[in-house]
Amino acid sequence: MDIAFVCLGNICRSPMAELIFNKIAAERGFDGEMRAISFGTSDCEEGNPIYPPALKTLKSHGVEGSHRARQLTLADVKNCGYILVMDSGNLFDVLRLTGGGFSEKIFKLCDFCDRPRDVDDPWYTRDFERAYFDIVDGIEGFLRFLGKGGV
Ligand code: 4NP
Repeated sequence: MDIAFVCLGNICRSPMAELIFNKIAAERGFDGEMRAISFGTSDCEEGNPIYPPALKTLKSHGVEGSHRARQLTLADVKNCGYILVMDSGNLFDVLRLTGGGFSEKIFKLCDFCDRPRDVDDPWYTRDFERAYFDIVDGIEGFLRFLGKGGV
């Protein structure tokens, strides 16, 4: 099953979530079962690599990898098991793309947290460290929701 993480540009939060999720999946042995991919709701960064400060933050936490930005399509929504967005604006944009459809598999990532919230956009806050910890918290909450919570 593909798990799609979605943000606005697909150069900061959602590729961070993709690489973090795939590292956790490999470490805990469910990488054959679930694979993370990521998209942007916008095409403003189409084809661009992960934003360097986001990549640097990942590296400082031992997360490696690369990604090129691509815009989410309706076909992607159909093909993925879950669509996990970063903030309320992303949720609005994805539901506009689907015409309100597929809402049973579209969630805000940090609605799985004990303290539900947005993953604020570090492109604007410049706080990549907070984005990293919010994303980790959301992924752990999502894994608990799936019954795969190990921590
Ligand atoms: P992201 O951050 O949605 O976390 O990838 C952004 C990246 C680029 C822009 C906005 C947000 N932008 O306006 O180019």
